[in-house]
Amino acid sequence: MGMSDSPVTIHTPGQSSESQDSTAQQQKQMEQAYAQMKRKMAMEEIGRKIKHKIMVLSGKGGVGKSTVSTGLALSLAQQGFKVGILDIDITGPNVPKMMGLDGKQLQVENKRILPAEGHLGVKVISMAFLLESEDTPVVWRGPIKLGAIQQFIGDVDWGELDYLVIDFPPGTSDEPLTVAQSLPNIDGMVIVTTPQQVALLDSRKSISFSQSLKVPVIGIVENMSGYTIEGKAEPGTDVEIFGPAGKMFKATTNEEGIFSVTLDIFKEGGGKATAEEFGVPFLGALPFDPGFVRGGDDGVHRIVSDPNGASAKAFAKVVEAIQSHLQLDRNDDLEII
Ligand SMILES: Nc1ncnc2c1ncn2[C@@H]1O[C@H](COP(=O)(O)OP(=O)(O)OP(=O)(O)O)[C@@H](O)[C@H]1O
Ligand SMILES: [Mg+2]
Repeated sequence: MGMSDSPVTIHTPGQSSESQDSTAQQQKQMEQAYAQMKRKMAMEEIGRKIKHKIMVLSGKGGVGKSTVSTGLALSLAQQGFKVGILDIDITGPNVPKMMGLDGKQLQVENKRILPAEGHLGVKVISMAFLLESEDTPVVWRGPIKLGAIQQFIGDVDWGELDYLVIDFPPGTSDEPLTVAQSLPNIDGMVIVTTPQQVALLDSRKSISFSQSLKVPVIGIVENMSGYTIEGKAEPGTDVEIFGPAGKMFKATTNEEGIFSVTLDIFKEGGGKATAEEFGVPFLGALPFDPGFVRGGDDGVHRIVSDPNGASAKAFAKVVEAIQSHLQLDRNDDLEII
């Protein structure tokens, strides 16, 4: 056989580096595909192990999303459910603070992130745990932030949970979309509003936002909806109270001589009206309670400091409404099958 028959490959410097390049590129692609597959599996596992996933959203900032998220989680935990909170807001450590976990660091075990345990055993994961210090401003560019959220969701080991409550930054931004696309089987969203007109307008935006996310609206909660005052007089006394805007409230003391009246601070029934207008359930109203503000500062949530108080009871009612809605949905599913 002549030389011409033997397979000869001539490596020119250019070709060689090209093939090295493509090997490196292939390896990178495979690693990416592997990471993506692992993440998908992790998401599916989370989907299986967590029975209910509820997003808490609002159109407007400062209406009490974090207060409601933590309150719902604690109220569910009070009933004996296994609960977690996922706090997507990376700009401030509100949720950890409200759950008594200020300055807490996360533990990592077998390459999975373990949630911190807050009040009543509620498991808490917050983007704020990634902050070096509370005062460090987080300015993450959009794609990095959304990538971090996805990775964060996939890397957390929640264990078995009955409910996962997901708290968001205000507005109809990219975060809810990222979460909705990453986490399978989200039950729906709870929209928080206050009775003011502008907050209501924004909650209307959230409702149409839900349609674009393809996540159903569980219902609307009206927060800061009136201020409850209590007083004492002879049992059976009729009491008249002059509230804001010249409105008079009447009450009668009970057999212990106690009366309680809820004054509407802003406007009555706005959340309910919006719910009716859009044909979504109204889940209930939460009173204005200065104890929430104190709880945010001293790290003891109102539901923990006053487990049988008016606010805890109002939260329990909202939880009941959410549960009956989820139950209804489930029955619908059964009928379809
Ligand atoms: N029902 C309530 N009664 C009294 N104060 C409340 C109530 N709900 C929330 N607050 C207070 O209002 C402030 C804003 O609440 P919170 O942080 O829960 O709102 P948010 O919607 O999560 O805000 P952001 O849009 O910044 O995330 C806090 O100081 C909180 O303590
Ligand atoms: Mg918040």
